[in-house]
Amino acid sequence: MRLDVISIFPEYLAPLELSLIGKARQDGLLNLSVHDLRDFTTDRHRTVDDTPYGGGAGMVMKPEPWALALESLLSEGARPTLIVPSPAGQVFSQSIAEELATEQQLVFACGRYEGIDERVIEWAAQHFEVRPMSLGDYVLNGGEVAVLAMVEAVARLLPGVIGNPESLIEESHQDGLLEYPVYTKPSQWRGSEIPEVLLSGNHAKIARFRRDEQLRRTVQRRPDLVALLDVERLNRADLQI
Ligand code: ADE
Repeated sequence: MRLDVISIFPEYLAPLELSLIGKARQDGLLNLSVHDLRDFTTDRHRTVDDTPYGGGAGMVMKPEPWALALESLLSEGARPTLIVPSPAGQVFSQSIAEELATEQQLVFACGRYEGIDERVIEWAAQHFEVRPMSLGDYVLNGGEVAVLAMVEAVARLLPGVIGNPESLIEESHQDGLLEYPVYTKPSQWRGSEIPEVLLSGNHAKIARFRRDEQLRRTVQRRPDLVALLDVERLNRADLQI
């Protein structure tokens, strides 16, 4: 998969050189490049922002550097997905990560200040599948932190990025439920014991216990998810336990 990130703070994306994502890049599974928006300015001061028409606080990102930067990433016949992180976007989720993981090329446009001139978004739709995307209902200083989260969520779904693909299946949100609690040695720790069933060696009982914990946790912590559950799919999975 090809990933391009455009930002005025390329150093903010340095964590993408670390850990599993860094390794995936080294192994050639991910072709990830970070581009400095200021390289696409044409004035001496490398200006990327200006005051907003209509007044108001803050600055708005100028359209032309964005158009030049985005154009530089286009190739013949391709229609990449352009993700524009914004608190005004659709809320990112595991199912969107799964969708994005099937794409050939993703471009991330990190806005700063009050955002990017809206005409860029309209213009970009001629060449890109544009998806304004929010990390959640809170405001960050810019898109970079959101891009770190989204790239990690997408990249770990690509074949070969995670050593043991089984760990992808048993995770929170994979089937709409939160993950069950996990324990490791020692079995007794500071007066607290692990649930006895985990020492029973009875795989069916362990699976039942874990499933019940997933359901209990989801109801307790995320009641909003309960209404969204695919009950038939859950029942089918439960019959296999
Ligand atoms: N930029 C600023 N706030 C954001 C958010 N919540 N999600 C994505 N990008 C953002």
